[in-house]
Amino acid sequence: MSQPLKGLFIGAGFFSRNHLHAWAEVRGAEITAICDRDPARAEAAAKEFGIGEWHTDAAVLHSGRFDFVDICTTMETHEELVALAVAARVPVIVQKPFAPDIATCLRIEAGARAAGVPVMLHENFRFQKIFRRLREILDAGEIGEVTFGRLNWRNDIDVYTNQPYLLKTERFMIMDVGIHMLDLARFLLGDAHAVSCFNQSVKEGLAGEDAATLMLRHDNRAVSVVDISYATHKTPNTFPQTLGEIEGRLGTVQILDGQVLRIHSPAGLRDEVIAPDQRSWTSAPWTQIQDSVPRTQQHFIDALRAGTAFETSARDSLQTYALAEAAYRSAASGAVVKTADLLKDI
Ligand SMILES: NC(=O)c1ccc[n+]([C@@H]2O[C@H](COP(=O)([O-])OP(=O)(O)OC[C@H]3O[C@@H](n4cnc5c(N)ncnc54)[C@H](O)[C@@H]3O)[C@@H](O)[C@H]2O)c1
Repeated sequence: MSQPLKGLFIGAGFFSRNHLHAWAEVRGAEITAICDRDPARAEAAAKEFGIGEWHTDAAVLHSGRFDFVDICTTMETHEELVALAVAARVPVIVQKPFAPDIATCLRIEAGARAAGVPVMLHENFRFQKIFRRLREILDAGEIGEVTFGRLNWRNDIDVYTNQPYLLKTERFMIMDVGIHMLDLARFLLGDAHAVSCFNQSVKEGLAGEDAATLMLRHDNRAVSVVDISYATHKTPNTFPQTLGEIEGRLGTVQILDGQVLRIHSPAGLRDEVIAPDQRSWTSAPWTQIQDSVPRTQQHFIDALRAGTAFETSARDSLQTYALAEAAYRSAASGAVVKTADLLKDI
């Protein structure tokens, strides 16, 4: 392989450790500098991960020394940081959520497209091993044409200690977790175009919702239900598993606790356990999410090197963010909201 691509990493906060450990595994790329506007964080991360330089100003992107940038900051900073990378003509991988609303997502994507700078969303749930295997089962036709799906994430893990900004996020649960579920729903059932949603704020003192129930109509007429909550106490706590089922004309695949796929097909009934890989830097209960991070970043580098499309390009992800926007508008109005109305200018 030719020289590894050189990357700038921006945002040395809570989730950054997973990215930085993962970058050490990714073939064909290396992080050569780290940036955080908090100098203590930037310096500490550079030291811990053996990165040669650290900065507090992302304008270093203009140095001409970077082949890509990994942006791991919270969503309200993404427009400015992606615009900076686009101006410097540096390809981008940026953490979800892309931006707080569809208008901002559209602006970011249009700017990158006009400049011809590739942008990928770091949407790691579809890169979990269990969902790659489920996609294979669907592609093999084992349950026939997909007609229904249910994706469920309900737990009460304390997200607020590590991510205190979530307490003040007005668009919280659908943007934070729902966006993963909406991407998975598209990955497993195809694009969707209409959403109805009810939101709930169960925990007191939050700026936004911590539970939501969404119903989607997919383009192939399949229906899916996405239900998400950070206010669900139960034992065992299923965090960070996405549970549910996908139904087809010939059978069903259940996604069960313990990373089990239970496949009901004309050939019979079987269970497959699709456990995440353990690494020296992964730890329960986060392993399933952590294991998907190097897979996501490897996809970014492989596609960047090959000049092929990212599965979760900014362009493709507009469909996912339109579903999230539609969910908020439906929750506010009580109406079914169509994504075509939100994406009419693209
Ligand atoms: N995909 C997943 O599974 C997953 C899990 C957790 C968090 N996340 C996402 O990761 C992102 C980061 O979350 P976090 O909890 O690590 O946030 P955080 O607030 O802990 O860290 C963000 C860091 O970015 C820095 N920063 C912000 N703006 C900057 C700028 N303009 N220039 C340089 N540095 C800047 C901050 O100083 C901070 O250190 C969020 O969007 C979150 O939703 C994703």
